[in-house]
Amino acid sequence: MSAAQWATAFAPASVGNVAIGFDILGFAVDALGDRVTVSRSERPGVTITAVSGIAGELPTDPAQNTAGRALQAMHAALAPSFGFEMRIEKGIPLGSGLGGSAASAVGAVVAANALLEQPYEPIDLLKFAMQGEAVASGSLHVDNISPSLFGGLVLTVGIDHPRVKRIPVPPGVCAVLIHPHMFLATRQARAILKRDVPLADFVWQTANLAGFISGCYTDDLDMIRASFEDVVIEPQRQALIPGFAAVRAAALAAGALGCSISGAGPTLFAWALETQAQTVLEAMRAPLVAAGAGVDEWIVDLHREGAHVVASG
Ligand code: HSE
Repeated sequence: MSAAQWATAFAPASVGNVAIGFDILGFAVDALGDRVTVSRSERPGVTITAVSGIAGELPTDPAQNTAGRALQAMHAALAPSFGFEMRIEKGIPLGSGLGGSAASAVGAVVAANALLEQPYEPIDLLKFAMQGEAVASGSLHVDNISPSLFGGLVLTVGIDHPRVKRIPVPPGVCAVLIHPHMFLATRQARAILKRDVPLADFVWQTANLAGFISGCYTDDLDMIRASFEDVVIEPQRQALIPGFAAVRAAALAAGALGCSISGAGPTLFAWALETQAQTVLEAMRAPLVAAGAGVDEWIVDLHREGAHVVASG
């Protein structure tokens, strides 16, 4: 069977960081995502023919576009006899903290991979997609790319030689997300971060990350709840998100296992038992709506697959 001439991939949104795992831990949010179609082209290199959907103002110069840069990295490694032509349909709001740039980059390389007689391994696709992420945030981080590509909750160790581990999420636990309608640039939310971490905070944060991961492996909800606290990044960023403290307090009072900022924000997320998720969602929504904010909201399964081809021909 010959490889496809074109393919469309869906790549889910993601929450990364998951509170204590700054730049290394994220989970997929497949309630929304980007769709990227890549076709074989007689034009050499990479061409973007259209960017549509809810963020249509993105650049179509491939070098300036996250998906374009990721596909250029793949094209350069592959050196095929044909070019890649790409259309991007954005389903993730820009500047929402939901991994929109990562999803476009992941969708591009997954779609292009379906055109190859000898497809790349997922870990190679991760490395290509990382090149795209750098366009958007100015740094190589993987906590959105890995879950968008692999699905579920994912830990990534290393940048030059990344190693990826899907972390089991206890059954019955889901995520609640609320997106206040404001734009927050990842670059800005990274630029405000101090370069140094006090030793006591370092110890606290590493204990929380270890506790969180071990709680996931052992279905220990008490351990997850106790360690679901980012003491380094969240205190510095919360001032960028009006209402953050009230939302977090409301989520915890309603029974959430924890609540924090999704990536660079402004989306906020909580983990909760499925039986309590609706109550947690309503609690998180109330302070934002009372302050006059428009919101989007989702309750999300944490056990779903990552990016995949949805059509080809
Ligand atoms: N881990 C990154 C951050 C994700 O929090 O800055 C931003 O997309």
